[in-house]
Amino acid sequence: MKILIINGPNLNMLGIREPSLYGRQDHDALEAYCRNCCRELAVQFSDRIPDGIDCDIFQSNHEGSLVDRIQQAYFDHADGIVINPAAYTHTSVAILDALKAVSIPAVEVHLTDIQEREPFRRISYAGMACEQHFAGQGFESYRLALTYLVQTYGKGKER
Ligand code: DQA
Repeated sequence: MKILIINGPNLNMLGIREPSLYGRQDHDALEAYCRNCCRELAVQFSDRIPDGIDCDIFQSNHEGSLVDRIQQAYFDHADGIVINPAAYTHTSVAILDALKAVSIPAVEVHLTDIQEREPFRRISYAGMACEQHFAGQGFESYRLALTYLVQTYGKGKER
């Protein structure tokens, strides 16, 4: 199963940026956490995903690069996308359109609870193309999203 994890702007500054909100662990730690989740899920759901998870992680501060990577996922035959569009969540119709264009099952994640912060964070454009949303649980939001994709789209499951 091929899963792409996409992180938007300023997430490369994890560990430095507003640690009271985003924690003290950096983006490398988030990557390691996600890769470990994939290894654990591959064991837990070996009946559904006998070949394990091929997990690609991409971070960019640039909206167009995020759009390009979503489009690339189509040609790479990705089975699922986990996306934290960061600030572009609240502004980017281009990311929304890219997710709709590729029609790959997508799950929106956020480290913080965007519904409980400033009013401008309550709107999520990208979220409109996502079938699930996990927020406010730090790194755990990513684990929940990965688990959802494996449980829902692991090939062993009747659809
Ligand atoms: C964020 C929430 C966004 O509002 C913010 O712009 C971010 C991070 C989160 O993961 O909590 O950069 O996506």
